Amino acid sequence: MTSIIERRLSLHQCLARKEEENRALKSQNLQLQALANLGSATCMVAHEINNLLTPLASYAALAVQNPADQKLAEKVLDKTVRNCQRASKIMQSMLALANGQKQDWETVSVKTLFEEVFLCLCRDFRKDGITVETQAADDLPVRCVPVQMQQVLMNLVLNARDAMLPGGGILRVSAVANAGHIDLSVSDTGAGITPENLKNIFRPFFTTKAAGARPSGASSGSGVGLAFCRRIVDAHGGEITVQSQVGQGSTFTIRLPQTAVPEYR
Ligand SMILES: Nc1ncnc2c1ncn2[C@@H]1O[C@H](COP(=O)(O)OP(=O)(O)O)[C@@H](O)[C@H]1O
Ligand SMILES: [Mg+2]
Repeated sequence: MTSIIERRLSLHQCLARKEEENRALKSQNLQLQALANLGSATCMVAHEINNLLTPLASYAALAVQNPADQKLAEKVLDKTVRNCQRASKIMQSMLALANGQKQDWETVSVKTLFEEVFLCLCRDFRKDGITVETQAADDLPVRCVPVQMQQVLMNLVLNARDAMLPGGGILRVSAVANAGHIDLSVSDTGAGITPENLKNIFRPFFTTKAAGARPSGASSGSGVGLAFCRRIVDAHGGEITVQSQVGQGSTFTIRLPQTAVPEYR
């Protein structure tokens, strides 16, 4: 009898110990998760800032080689101001995203959104043999955090460009309104994605652009671009999907809920 009571007591103590251990592990897990979030946010900021700095650096180098070209110098300065302002907006917005703070939602014209993306890329796609086609009605409004949606589009456009190097192709960026939502899509006629890779492309740090494994001229990969895109689109209550065929190309579509707001910039 005593032994049964002792055994029960010891089981109770053991259970209490395990529960305590479980609580400690859960709290440790939360701290690690917060650190992991911070780590990936840092990586994403670095990645986005790099997207803005890389074209500026080559543009500025061109101006240095052509000191007499006043027009070129003015263009470089103009783009420097624009991209620096953007970089600062991106920092603020990403910090807010990481801290779960409220973001500045606006209703903007899709066309303006697209134009801003190509202005910040400061790239002449024709030099890579890429024809750019954009399609969006002049007055199509979209409700979003503009700086974030531009980052998403910029990432998709840069991936599309990489996929079409070195042969070139057609890059289409379009927007259509459809029964209560708006579809923004970026499509390319590039290498396409294998079904195996397709399962992984939205995973943080998944990349097929490791040094030495990418076509010449393509950016080196960190694998954070699409993970970041998905996070932003999720935060907008939307959905990002992809259709791709090896050798034919890929289309990424962002479906956003469309809220009719009369005024937009
Ligand atoms: N338009 C595309 N065409 C072909 N492959 C793509 C395209 N977009 C993304 N991918 C694939 O998805 C991977 C992950 O993309 P991303 O998260 O932007 O990281 P990164 O561009 O740094 O590799 C890429 O390495 C590539 O294999
Ligand atoms: Mg990318």
